[in-house]
Amino acid sequence: MENSSALLLGRSGSLLQFVTILLLMLCVVDVKSQLSVDFYASTCPKLAQIVRKEVVNAVKAEMRMAASLLRLHFHDCFVNGCDGSLLLDGTDGEKFARPNLNSARGFEVVDSIKRAVESQCSGVVSCADILALAARDSTLLSGGPSWKVPLGRRDGLVANQTGAGDLPGPFDNLTLIIAKFAAVGLDSLVDVVSLSGSHTIGQASCATFSNRLTNFSGTGAPDPTLESSMLSDLQSLCPANVNGNPTTALDRGSTDLFDTHYFQNLVNNKGLLSSDQILFTGSEAATAAARSLVQIYSVNPGRFFFDFANSMVRMGNIGPLTGSNGEIRRNCRVINS
Ligand code: HEM
Ligand SMILES: *[C@@H]1O[C@H](CO)[C@@H](O)[C@H](O)[C@H]1NC(C)=O
Ligand SMILES: *[C@@H]1O[C@H](CO)[C@@H](O)[C@H](O)[C@H]1NC(C)=O
Ligand SMILES: *[C@@H]1O[C@H](CO)[C@@H](O)[C@H](O)[C@H]1NC(C)=O
Repeated sequence: MENSSALLLGRSGSLLQFVTILLLMLCVVDVKSQLSVDFYASTCPKLAQIVRKEVVNAVKAEMRMAASLLRLHFHDCFVNGCDGSLLLDGTDGEKFARPNLNSARGFEVVDSIKRAVESQCSGVVSCADILALAARDSTLLSGGPSWKVPLGRRDGLVANQTGAGDLPGPFDNLTLIIAKFAAVGLDSLVDVVSLSGSHTIGQASCATFSNRLTNFSGTGAPDPTLESSMLSDLQSLCPANVNGNPTTALDRGSTDLFDTHYFQNLVNNKGLLSSDQILFTGSEAATAAARSLVQIYSVNPGRFFFDFANSMVRMGNIGPLTGSNGEIRRNCRVINS
């Protein structure tokens, strides 16, 4: 009796294992097949070239646009998945949430990419996919890595202003930033640190770092982890009680170049945002691990580029709408009527 029940348990145990493994395999296959790099191979074979040409033009006109486009993909993906919801106009939209208001930019460029795509493949390509391709092209054109972009996302029917208000912020501590990444499925510190490396290009306004300049966390003194000459520079750029609009480079070492200088800055206490510098300095549980990644990336561009490209693909996979969910928007700013 004991023997046979043990046998039975053993059998059902291995059957269970078998089924579990099968299910896991199906899940893996399923996740991979949701998006595919050749999704538009027959419906819009020139898509990559069309997008590239528009991004080249935009970046030629203004180098910072590469950074702005890269950031749009991030702010899209973290809120209800990569579904183009950020692009929807309206005061109840994501554009009016605190992290985006007077800050997210590049929407006109997205419009012109969309127009160019529509003129050759009407009603086929989603705005969410255009953001993913534009982010890749922007990175590459700034001197960074390239990667194959999985495609096939569809556009969402709703914006989520509350969700956008909850994007990772410059005053968040590392614990909270890690939690916000994990909440969208990016549960590796590699994603947090490598994707923060996006701040190797682009600009930030005084409002996002002036908390560090005079009375940091109520101490009555500036953030001690901000290098002194950079501190005085920033203090003259952002006088107290003046508007928070002036901007400066996130990476003052090589502003428009996608390189490892951002990480070298952190090692030298020259991170601009508090959320940048705490990847290297601090005493939270994850600081030591983040710090060692920063150190590696600061001297190893190959490793940074490799991890960044992989993390971008993972970020691009957040909650895509596929199949018959959502729609292919005709105009990225409004849902189809
Ligand atoms: C880790 C948490 C992050 C925080 C707290 C953060 C915060 C910020 C802030 C405050 C700015 C300046 C906005 C302004 O003043 O207008 C900024 C700019 C930027 N962020 Fe992030 N960010 C984070 C992660 C990311 C990620 C994951 C990406 C891309 C994958 C990214 C890409 C960019 C780019 C490229 C800019 C410059 C945009 C421009 O010049 O128009 N950031 N970020
Ligand atoms: C909006 O985003 C938040 C946080 O990302 C999420 O919890 C919430 O369910 C979303 N709401 C809608 C209506 O999608
Ligand atoms: C991080 O910030 C959150 C939210 O402000 C706070 O609750 C938490 O105590 C902070 N954690 C650390 C380790 O500072
Ligand atoms: C710094 O901020 C704290 C609290 O935010 C405040 O109590 C204190 O008076 C400020 N100190 C100075 C020098 O402004």
